Amino acid sequence: MTSSDEIRRSFTEFFVERGHLAVPSASLVPSALDQSVLLTTAGMQPFKPYFLGQAEPPAKRMTSIQRCFRAVDIDVVGSTDRHLTYFQMMGNFSFGDYFKPGAVEMAYELSTGVWGLDPERIWATVYEGDDQLGPDDVARELWLAQGIPASRVVALGEDNFWKAGPTGPCGPCSELYYDRGVQFGCGRGECEPGCDCDRFLEFWNLVFMEFDRDDNGLLTPLPTQNIDTGSGVERVAMLLQGAGSLFETDETSHVIQALERLSGRRYADGGDAVRSFRVLCDHARGMTAIATDGVTPSNEGRGYVLRRILRRAVLHGTRLGLETPFLGAVHEAVIESLASGFPEIQQHRDDVRRLLEAEEERFSQTLATGSRLLDELIRRAREQEASSLHAGDVFELHDTHGFPVELTAEVAREVGLGIDLEGFEQHMQAQRERARAASRRGDGVAAERIARFAQSAPPTGFVGYGELGLETKVLAVEPVAEGLSLVKLERSPFYPEGGGQVSDTGEISAHAVRGQIESVYRLEGDQVLLVHLDGELRPGDVVHARVDLERRRPTMANHTGTHLLQRALRNQLGEHVRQAGSAVRPEGLRFDFTHPSPVTAEQVRAVEDEVNRVVLEDRDLRIFETTQDEARELGATMLFGEKYGDIVRVVDITGYSMELCGGTHVRSTAAVGPFTIVRESSVGQGVRRIEAITGPEALAALRRADRAAREAAAALRTPPEQLPEAVTSLSERVRELEKAARSNGGGGQASGPDLSALTAGAAERGRLKVLVAEAPEGTLGDALLELADRLRGALGPSAVVLGVRDGERVQLVASMTPEAVEDGLDASAVIKQIGPIVGGGGGGRPSMARAGGKDASRLDEALDAARALLA
Ligand code: SER
Repeated sequence: MTSSDEIRRSFTEFFVERGHLAVPSASLVPSALDQSVLLTTAGMQPFKPYFLGQAEPPAKRMTSIQRCFRAVDIDVVGSTDRHLTYFQMMGNFSFGDYFKPGAVEMAYELSTGVWGLDPERIWATVYEGDDQLGPDDVARELWLAQGIPASRVVALGEDNFWKAGPTGPCGPCSELYYDRGVQFGCGRGECEPGCDCDRFLEFWNLVFMEFDRDDNGLLTPLPTQNIDTGSGVERVAMLLQGAGSLFETDETSHVIQALERLSGRRYADGGDAVRSFRVLCDHARGMTAIATDGVTPSNEGRGYVLRRILRRAVLHGTRLGLETPFLGAVHEAVIESLASGFPEIQQHRDDVRRLLEAEEERFSQTLATGSRLLDELIRRAREQEASSLHAGDVFELHDTHGFPVELTAEVAREVGLGIDLEGFEQHMQAQRERARAASRRGDGVAAERIARFAQSAPPTGFVGYGELGLETKVLAVEPVAEGLSLVKLERSPFYPEGGGQVSDTGEISAHAVRGQIESVYRLEGDQVLLVHLDGELRPGDVVHARVDLERRRPTMANHTGTHLLQRALRNQLGEHVRQAGSAVRPEGLRFDFTHPSPVTAEQVRAVEDEVNRVVLEDRDLRIFETTQDEARELGATMLFGEKYGDIVRVVDITGYSMELCGGTHVRSTAAVGPFTIVRESSVGQGVRRIEAITGPEALAALRRADRAAREAAAALRTPPEQLPEAVTSLSERVRELEKAARSNGGGGQASGPDLSALTAGAAERGRLKVLVAEAPEGTLGDALLELADRLRGALGPSAVVLGVRDGERVQLVASMTPEAVEDGLDASAVIKQIGPIVGGGGGGRPSMARAGGKDASRLDEALDAARALLA
């Protein structure tokens, strides 16, 4: 059987041999430069800048195996044999190098020549054309030339035009299908590739990427003609392993088997449970992968995708009779099955497990209550012979009990009921309006309203670089909701979010009125505050404005830390490092940058060391405004593609780094405090991400680590500095004990007998001891090996040959220390000579060999022969 590992290896090898540069998978979380998808859905995504000609690829031919997640398939998963949300896509890419002929020939050669797929069952599809493009006759001819008969080359419409999104790189495509046999199909006479049934399995898509699509669907040619192909590891495994579905390959069945063990149910028993097994298997892989790439459950964006599949996983788990918490155990099974193609999964095993379990715990209570209520609603709907659930009830489940509407819809659908989604949406809308009116948060204020308000008074002067508390005048006020107003000040110390740095929070107060700053909106050269007021404020009032230092101080330290990090990365990795995204918050910083390969552990340490060195050097920050041209002359780092005004602000860390920046900074590097990198990861081809913490956060993290080390050291009665050695020797000791326990359990008495009785019989041979002896009865198998090891240990440089009776049969082992091997003794030669005497055979290495024989009556003879050989 060809394993998934072998499939991955053969794919990469095949394309590397044909001149492709192999690169590892990027993160499921796309780079900040690509906002088109929440999670990576295709192997080509990390390469988009290369296709669009925005960046130079490191090679014209590349290949990767990219982890992908397709949320659009969440609902179909489990109901077909061939859908997964999480999968691994193998791809070969050409950036202006080979085009259709190369792509077709290589795909066909690998499929039939290397993977051994039956050419008689392979079908191809080509693009049938549209009003902008003609039919793809070139691709058709190429498949015919490979030997696929015309009857198995099918022209398809939309399916065979591939695009990365509504706009962007795209082109006609051509797919390879495998005919699994009529028994998997719908049975219609006209069933062929493109049919919705499970008979024809698409296993490779070749995209001839040559256009860029604009908002109106208009195609303009890309600078070069390119190739993007995608072939799912799971689908190829299904074919090569003869699996009935994607859930029965080596990787997925490992997870299914774990679910069988946990639930005591059997996948092969069929019935409704099959879908739950499949959904749980798929979603468990997805949740582990997404969380490993740093996503945490939330109510929006990719955090919501994670939350949604996790909840569905819990639902289907309970249907299999699993008792929460079980996701931790399922997560372990996923790791075992995926780790060889996804090394990061091991690294984050424990933090991901904690995160999944916490979310599971939160949700399982909701699920228990919600399911009970839902059962009741279903029962009532049936009684009343209604075809759908009442919108108000569904809303209440959602709003009061936190039971997600998609789950309600899913459960209802399974019993043939609908839900009134439109009605539900109306309830939601009404609730949102109520919430807005009563809101403590002001996120609902429309952008136009803010802009209009801003223009009602002269621009606010931002003075928050230097002043964090000041007296100033209110210029304008406009209530937007109960207790919530837009406020404009003459001068403001509050930083509005920008340049990656979060907004400030803080307070304004006057005579008897206090206001908490909810948001600071940035407008071109101006700003507006959204404030919770506990009284009335009027234009002309003098207020005291004060920035919340608890947030601002660490934010400034993190911003300066980001500049230090950028400089240190360039010093350590090279000047090619460019900023590709950044987030500066009070609790830490995140910095994305261009770099073609992972940053090694040593490089991370070197960067961290360099930043900490500059922190301790207590270098002053000099911040000034100048013209763009002068800044460039001074050598300031500018962001690629970002527009700067004529006058720019330069942040100069004396003698170390100079960057254009509008953010807030500490006065000296010393205020950054300890700088610790907590994570390094990939966010796209050639884009890496570093997350770091500074100051009190870093100190607290170091303390935690230190405390853990001290506690562990105390438990092991060793000084903390020697902890690694102590742990190594402890685990060696555990291994030894386990080994000894195993051999005792095997019936032997290896650790029991007094070795001296045996060692006494050893003879001298130069610097060696030679011991040939019969071992105590019952010392069989590993116990015999173990005994030989122990004897060698007791004898020092030596050759040991042991035999033991096992009823009529006998076992032999010969074991040599390195010195004996050096002196020309060979365990396997000894065994080859004496094995036949007891009617058996065996072999091994010069240092160790073993044999079994059938004739115990001749054991003494065999041992004598060994003595003679070793004398
Ligand atoms: N981008 C294409 C797909 O996802 C081929 O890799 O199918």
